[in-house]
Amino acid sequence: MRLRRAVQLMGGAKKESGQALARLPAVLLPWYDENRRVLPWREEVTPYRTWVSEVMLQQTRVQAALPYFLRFMEAAPDISALAALPEEQLMRLWQGLGYYSRARSLQKAARQVVEQYGGCLPQTYSELTALPGIGDYTAGAILSIAFGQPVPAVDGNVLRIAARLTGCGDNVLLPQTRQRFRDALAAVMPPHRPGDFNQALMDLGSGVCLPGQPACEACPARMLCAALAAGRQRELPVREKNTAKPTEQLTVFVLTRPDGAAALRQRPQKGLLAGLWEFPHVPGTLDEQAAAHQLAEWGLRVTEWRRCIHAVHQFTHRRWDMTGWVLAVEGDGQGDWLWADAAAREEKAIPSAFRAFVKALE
Ligand code: ADE
Repeated sequence: MRLRRAVQLMGGAKKESGQALARLPAVLLPWYDENRRVLPWREEVTPYRTWVSEVMLQQTRVQAALPYFLRFMEAAPDISALAALPEEQLMRLWQGLGYYSRARSLQKAARQVVEQYGGCLPQTYSELTALPGIGDYTAGAILSIAFGQPVPAVDGNVLRIAARLTGCGDNVLLPQTRQRFRDALAAVMPPHRPGDFNQALMDLGSGVCLPGQPACEACPARMLCAALAAGRQRELPVREKNTAKPTEQLTVFVLTRPDGAAALRQRPQKGLLAGLWEFPHVPGTLDEQAAAHQLAEWGLRVTEWRRCIHAVHQFTHRRWDMTGWVLAVEGDGQGDWLWADAAAREEKAIPSAFRAFVKALE
């Protein structure tokens, strides 16, 4: 069943590709048991330690991050301590790691966790990704490593491994390719050791399945690897920058009222997607504060921030990069909006560009 699912998800790739992924845990976990790096966030695992380590490791190599992590844990041993840390001290702790916005988001999220969750990180993907600075990868790492949930953590290293193993030549810079790999890996996650599986992939990606010079002779998955069999390990993964299509950033609002009705509006009768129905949206990428401002301008009162989702839609000549706020609101909004219940939404033609947001209502 799992094999069939993994094969289906790899689309046009051959049956062996899905098989390679399905058989990966069986070869990777014993290898990890023998070769795993001993690291402080692995020896003592808490959701907080996993979170901080993953944020540090987003742009910093393991060896460089080590002393920072240890110092950070001394200065801020738990989420409440991080929330209460004076900004100057936080910046000093981060000094040298770079990308200071990571530290600011970390603290902002810690404060939110103290306020909303009593200082304990939530255990669902949607709640985690709604926190500042926690994206798909970090949420997957926290859920699998700290909470034992079978969720993949897919970064560039994991995409490289998966593309080589399956021999898949799809462009891994496209969101739909990444999503397909994410789904295929989700289908083969070992339920008893999801965190070890993800960390084994991290170790394989940083020590063996390297970008330029993969050490295939040392790879525990060499007999499964389609790229190695075809001598294509240097060609994969395919990373083609999308230069041709102009990209528009949009912020989409998925607004529901207490009776379950969601706000729709009709597009102009001319131009792209003429006359179809859509969720209200505005140009640009609005963070929570800017989104709140926009909602107030529309005369709406937010009763619950539910999720923030990201979706991309490719048209023939352009691309929409959409940030979607899923919210419960009170108020009427704009005069030309339709508050549509599930039956009314069924009747309206909502283009597939908004599919992710329609799904968010289900
Ligand atoms: N790189 C990113 N996360 C990591 C982890 N948990 N262990 C080792 N390397 C990593």
